[in-house]
Amino acid sequence: MKNLMTSNYSIAKNVFLDKIEIDDYIELSSSLTIYTQLEKIIDKPLKMILLFGKPGTGKSILLARLQNNLKHQKEIHYFPTPATSEKEFFGIVFKILTQQELPENTEVNFSALIKFCESLLGKREIIILLDEAQMYSATIMEKIRLLSDTRVVKFVIALHKTDDEDLIAKEHFQTRIWESLELINASVDEQKIYIHKKLLKHNLFDVANSLDGKELKLVHKFTEGNYRECNKLLYTIFEICEYYEEFEPHNIDVSHISKKIIEMAGLKLGYIHA
Ligand SMILES: Nc1ncnc2c1ncn2[C@@H]1O[C@H](COP(=O)(O)OP(=O)(O)OP(=O)(O)O)[C@@H](O)[C@H]1O
Ligand SMILES: [Mg+2]
Repeated sequence: MKNLMTSNYSIAKNVFLDKIEIDDYIELSSSLTIYTQLEKIIDKPLKMILLFGKPGTGKSILLARLQNNLKHQKEIHYFPTPATSEKEFFGIVFKILTQQELPENTEVNFSALIKFCESLLGKREIIILLDEAQMYSATIMEKIRLLSDTRVVKFVIALHKTDDEDLIAKEHFQTRIWESLELINASVDEQKIYIHKKLLKHNLFDVANSLDGKELKLVHKFTEGNYRECNKLLYTIFEICEYYEEFEPHNIDVSHISKKIIEMAGLKLGYIHA
């Protein structure tokens, strides 16, 4: 029994590592709503679509999933991290549009690229999913806008929305975005489903059962329903459980993860202070 549970905790811990794995996507009613809306919106004649949400609300995993689901039906490309330079960025765009490599030691002639893009109107439609768009420079953003004006390339722009900065108010997003979607943190119930589904996907039934309502409310209180924070907290909780299992098995009830363990994890991550 002991060995079984010990290995269960280390599996459980790794279930909550922070990574973008589309196979690990959990269908939740709110994420499904946003996903369905996004799928509909990209079929509309829009030039740019804005996807925003605080860090850790699931923007990247949503875009990765959209690209993966539509890649056989549409020309859809996911840019996970911003290119290091304008030259590199338009080199990639050139390759997507022309379906050819950019000759070595050459730079993209932007006005020629726009002309080429215009020649594709009615023939091809390209969707580019730009993640972490807050990191692109104003010059790149302006050129992205010019590309989208051709109506051949449509951009889905994912942005952090931080508390003190209203990005929607930023100059180039005022008039250019025709529709925007916002991802938000999970409610208590949704977070509970998220945690349980993630564990059940890995057959960790006992572990899922050992986390019940009252304890999960505390998890929600600490993390405010943020997916990334939730992953961090659950990872730490199972790390602590793993320790107890191995060194102080008489101090842990494997059928019920206690409030104390969650508080210890919260303390370690700085949600609460001693
Ligand atoms: N519906 C979901 N199913 C499975 N995992 C999810 C889901 N939503 C979010 N996550 C997980 O939560 C974590 C944070 O999500 P993600 O990285 O997509 O957030 P983000 O909004 O892109 O954050 P940032 O603004 O910092 O880039 C990731 O580990 C991701 O795998
Ligand atoms: Mg992201």
